[in-house]
Amino acid sequence: MRNIVILISGRGTNMQAIVDAASVEKWPARIAAIISNKAGAEGLAFATQKNIPTAVVANTDYATREAFDIALQQVIDSFQPDLVVLAGFMRILSNEFVHHYDARMLNIHPSLLPSFPGLATHRQALDAGVKVHGATVHFVTAELDHGPIVAQVVVPVLAGDTEASLAERVLAEEHIIYPRAVRWFIEGHLHLENNHVQVAAAAR
Ligand code: GAR
Repeated sequence: MRNIVILISGRGTNMQAIVDAASVEKWPARIAAIISNKAGAEGLAFATQKNIPTAVVANTDYATREAFDIALQQVIDSFQPDLVVLAGFMRILSNEFVHHYDARMLNIHPSLLPSFPGLATHRQALDAGVKVHGATVHFVTAELDHGPIVAQVVVPVLAGDTEASLAERVLAEEHIIYPRAVRWFIEGHLHLENNHVQVAAAAR
Protein backbone atom coordinates (compact mmCIF):
# COMPACT_ATOMS: atom_id res chain seq x y z
CA MET A 1 0.00 0.00 0.00
CA ARG A 2 1.31 3.41 -0.93
CA ASN A 3 0.45 6.51 1.07
CA ILE A 4 -1.14 9.56 -0.52
CA VAL A 5 -1.36 12.85 1.38
CA ILE A 6 -3.69 15.45 -0.15
CA LEU A 7 -3.42 19.18 0.54
CA ILE A 8 -6.44 21.44 0.15
CA SER A 9 -7.43 25.01 0.91
CA GLY A 10 -11.14 24.99 0.15
CA ARG A 11 -14.03 22.91 -1.06
CA GLY A 12 -11.82 20.02 -2.17
CA THR A 13 -13.80 18.58 -5.06
CA ASN A 14 -10.63 17.32 -6.75
CA MET A 15 -9.64 15.67 -3.48
CA GLN A 16 -13.09 14.03 -3.34
CA ALA A 17 -12.72 12.74 -6.90
CA ILE A 18 -9.38 11.18 -5.96
CA VAL A 19 -10.69 9.66 -2.71
CA ASP A 20 -13.69 8.19 -4.55
CA ALA A 21 -11.62 6.83 -7.46
CA ALA A 22 -9.12 5.23 -5.06
CA SER A 23 -11.96 3.43 -3.32
CA VAL A 24 -14.07 2.46 -6.35
CA GLU A 25 -11.06 1.38 -8.44
CA LYS A 26 -9.37 -0.30 -5.47
CA TRP A 27 -5.99 1.41 -5.89
CA PRO A 28 -3.07 -0.14 -4.01
CA ALA A 29 -2.98 3.01 -1.91
CA ARG A 30 -4.46 4.62 1.14
CA ILE A 31 -5.37 8.26 1.51
CA ALA A 32 -3.21 8.74 4.58
CA ALA A 33 -4.38 12.27 5.36
CA ILE A 34 -6.10 15.37 4.10
CA ILE A 35 -4.29 18.49 5.27
CA SER A 36 -5.54 22.05 4.95
CA ASN A 37 -3.98 25.43 5.59
CA LYS A 38 -7.46 26.73 6.47
CA ALA A 39 -9.43 25.45 9.44
CA GLY A 40 -12.73 26.18 7.70
CA ALA A 41 -11.95 24.35 4.45
CA GLU A 42 -15.16 22.64 3.31
CA GLY A 43 -13.28 19.57 2.10
CA LEU A 44 -12.30 18.64 5.66
CA ALA A 45 -15.88 17.60 6.46
CA PHE A 46 -15.90 15.17 3.54
CA ALA A 47 -12.61 13.65 4.74
CA THR A 48 -13.95 13.22 8.27
CA GLN A 49 -17.09 11.57 6.89
CA LYS A 50 -14.86 9.08 5.06
CA ASN A 51 -12.80 8.42 8.22
CA ILE A 52 -9.67 9.87 6.65
CA PRO A 53 -7.31 11.55 9.13
CA THR A 54 -7.28 15.32 8.78
CA ALA A 55 -4.94 18.04 9.96
CA VAL A 56 -4.90 21.80 9.81
CA VAL A 57 -1.68 23.77 9.62
CA ALA A 58 -2.87 27.36 9.48
CA ASN A 59 -0.49 29.62 7.59
CA THR A 60 -1.80 32.54 9.63
CA ASP A 61 -0.13 30.98 12.70
CA TYR A 62 3.35 31.45 11.22
CA ALA A 63 5.34 34.63 10.76
CA THR A 64 7.13 33.56 7.61
CA ARG A 65 6.52 31.34 4.59
CA GLU A 66 9.56 29.25 5.55
CA ALA A 67 8.30 28.65 9.11
CA PHE A 68 4.91 27.59 7.79
CA ASP A 69 6.42 25.27 5.20
CA ILE A 70 8.63 23.59 7.82
CA ALA A 71 5.61 22.98 10.07
CA LEU A 72 3.56 21.71 7.14
CA GLN A 73 6.35 19.38 6.04
CA GLN A 74 6.57 17.88 9.52
CA VAL A 75 2.86 17.12 9.55
CA ILE A 76 2.89 15.72 6.01
CA ASP A 77 5.91 13.52 6.75
CA SER A 78 4.29 12.10 9.87
CA PHE A 79 1.96 10.31 7.41
CA GLN A 80 4.92 8.89 5.43
CA PRO A 81 3.69 9.92 1.98
CA ASP A 82 4.80 8.26 -1.24
CA LEU A 83 2.95 11.01 -3.07
CA VAL A 84 1.77 14.50 -2.08
CA VAL A 85 -1.20 15.78 -4.08
CA LEU A 86 -2.00 19.49 -4.20
CA ALA A 87 -5.73 19.78 -4.83
CA GLY A 88 -6.71 23.42 -4.79
CA PHE A 89 -3.93 24.17 -2.29
CA MET A 90 -3.59 27.91 -2.74
CA ARG A 91 -0.13 28.58 -1.37
CA ILE A 92 3.18 29.53 -2.94
CA LEU A 93 5.71 27.00 -1.66
CA SER A 94 9.31 27.62 -0.65
CA ASN A 95 12.12 26.03 -2.70
CA GLU A 96 13.18 23.84 0.23
CA PHE A 97 9.68 22.43 0.59
CA VAL A 98 9.38 21.74 -3.13
CA HIS A 99 12.79 20.04 -3.27
CA HIS A 100 11.90 17.83 -0.33
CA TYR A 101 9.05 16.33 -2.39
CA ASP A 102 10.98 16.29 -5.64
CA ALA A 103 9.32 13.96 -8.22
CA ARG A 104 6.62 12.97 -5.71
CA MET A 105 4.35 16.01 -5.60
CA LEU A 106 1.61 16.70 -8.16
CA ASN A 107 -0.57 19.75 -8.72
CA ILE A 108 -3.58 20.53 -10.88
CA HIS A 109 -3.90 23.97 -12.41
CA PRO A 110 -7.02 25.22 -14.19
CA SER A 111 -5.44 26.25 -17.50
CA LEU A 112 -3.49 24.78 -20.36
CA LEU A 113 -0.03 25.56 -18.98
CA PRO A 114 2.20 27.32 -19.83
CA SER A 115 -0.71 29.64 -20.64
CA PHE A 116 -2.32 31.47 -17.74
CA PRO A 117 -0.32 30.61 -14.63
CA GLY A 118 -1.36 32.24 -11.36
CA LEU A 119 -4.85 33.23 -10.29
CA ALA A 120 -8.13 33.93 -12.12
CA THR A 121 -7.21 31.60 -14.97
CA HIS A 122 -10.73 31.51 -16.43
CA ARG A 123 -10.85 35.32 -16.47
CA GLN A 124 -7.43 35.33 -18.13
CA ALA A 125 -8.67 32.89 -20.79
CA LEU A 126 -11.79 34.93 -21.52
CA ASP A 127 -9.79 38.16 -21.69
CA ALA A 128 -7.30 36.58 -24.10
CA GLY A 129 -10.12 35.37 -26.33
CA VAL A 130 -8.78 31.83 -26.61
CA LYS A 131 -11.08 29.28 -28.24
CA VAL A 132 -9.90 26.39 -26.07
CA HIS A 133 -9.04 26.25 -22.40
CA GLY A 134 -8.49 23.41 -19.95
CA ALA A 135 -6.48 22.05 -17.07
CA THR A 136 -3.02 20.65 -16.46
CA VAL A 137 -1.66 18.08 -14.03
CA HIS A 138 2.05 18.59 -13.46
CA PHE A 139 4.88 17.71 -11.13
CA VAL A 140 5.61 20.59 -8.80
CA THR A 141 8.88 22.44 -9.22
CA ALA A 142 10.19 25.60 -7.62
CA GLU A 143 8.73 27.80 -10.36
CA LEU A 144 5.03 28.52 -9.72
CA ASP A 145 2.65 26.68 -12.07
CA HIS A 146 5.50 25.15 -14.05
CA GLY A 147 6.98 21.70 -13.88
CA PRO A 148 6.86 18.62 -16.07
CA ILE A 149 3.39 18.13 -17.53
CA VAL A 150 1.68 14.80 -16.79
CA ALA A 151 -1.74 15.31 -18.38
CA GLN A 152 -3.84 18.01 -19.96
CA VAL A 153 -7.49 18.27 -20.88
CA VAL A 154 -8.98 20.69 -23.39
CA VAL A 155 -12.46 22.20 -23.29
CA PRO A 156 -14.02 24.64 -25.77
CA VAL A 157 -14.62 28.25 -24.83
CA LEU A 158 -18.18 28.97 -25.95
CA ALA A 159 -19.82 32.22 -26.98
CA GLY A 160 -21.44 33.74 -23.92
CA ASP A 161 -19.20 31.90 -21.45
CA THR A 162 -18.71 33.55 -18.09
CA GLU A 163 -15.92 32.81 -15.65
CA ALA A 164 -18.38 30.59 -13.75
CA SER A 165 -19.59 28.60 -16.76
CA LEU A 166 -16.05 28.08 -18.02
CA ALA A 167 -14.80 27.09 -14.56
CA GLU A 168 -17.57 24.54 -14.26
CA ARG A 169 -16.74 22.97 -17.65
CA VAL A 170 -13.04 22.78 -16.75
CA LEU A 171 -13.66 21.45 -13.23
CA ALA A 172 -15.73 18.52 -14.51
CA GLU A 173 -12.72 17.48 -16.59
CA GLU A 174 -10.27 18.04 -13.73
CA HIS A 175 -12.21 15.43 -11.80
CA ILE A 176 -11.40 12.93 -14.55
CA ILE A 177 -7.75 13.66 -15.33
CA TYR A 178 -6.47 14.19 -11.80
CA PRO A 179 -7.51 10.82 -10.35
CA ARG A 180 -6.19 9.17 -13.52
CA ALA A 181 -2.78 10.82 -13.17
CA VAL A 182 -2.56 9.99 -9.46
CA ARG A 183 -3.41 6.38 -10.25
CA TRP A 184 -0.63 6.24 -12.88
CA PHE A 185 1.84 7.37 -10.22
CA ILE A 186 0.57 4.99 -7.57
CA GLU A 187 0.71 2.04 -9.95
CA GLY A 188 4.28 2.91 -10.98
CA HIS A 189 3.43 3.92 -14.54
CA LEU A 190 4.48 7.54 -14.20
CA HIS A 191 8.16 8.52 -14.18
CA LEU A 192 10.35 11.54 -14.68
CA GLU A 193 13.28 11.15 -17.05
CA ASN A 194 15.52 14.17 -17.62
CA ASN A 195 12.68 16.31 -16.32
CA HIS A 196 10.24 14.91 -18.88
CA VAL A 197 7.25 12.79 -17.97
CA GLN A 198 7.07 9.20 -19.13
CA VAL A 199 3.79 7.34 -18.86
CA ALA A 200 4.01 3.61 -19.47
CA ALA A 201 1.90 2.48 -22.43
CA ALA A 202 0.07 0.03 -20.18
CA ALA A 203 -1.43 2.91 -18.21
CA ARG A 204 -2.87 4.97 -21.04
C1 GAR B 1 -9.45 23.74 -9.02
O1 GAR B 1 -10.03 24.30 -10.16
C2 GAR B 1 -7.95 23.67 -9.17
O2 GAR B 1 -7.53 23.41 -10.47
C3 GAR B 1 -7.54 25.07 -8.76
O3 GAR B 1 -8.38 25.38 -7.68
C4 GAR B 1 -9.61 24.67 -7.81
C5 GAR B 1 -9.84 23.90 -6.54
O4 GAR B 1 -11.10 23.31 -6.54
N1 GAR B 1 -6.17 25.14 -8.40
C6 GAR B 1 -5.40 26.20 -8.61
O5 GAR B 1 -5.83 27.25 -9.08
C7 GAR B 1 -3.95 26.06 -8.22
N2 GAR B 1 -3.14 27.05 -8.82
P1 GAR B 1 -11.43 22.14 -5.54
O6 GAR B 1 -11.01 22.63 -4.15
O7 GAR B 1 -12.90 21.97 -5.65
O8 GAR B 1 -10.64 20.93 -5.96
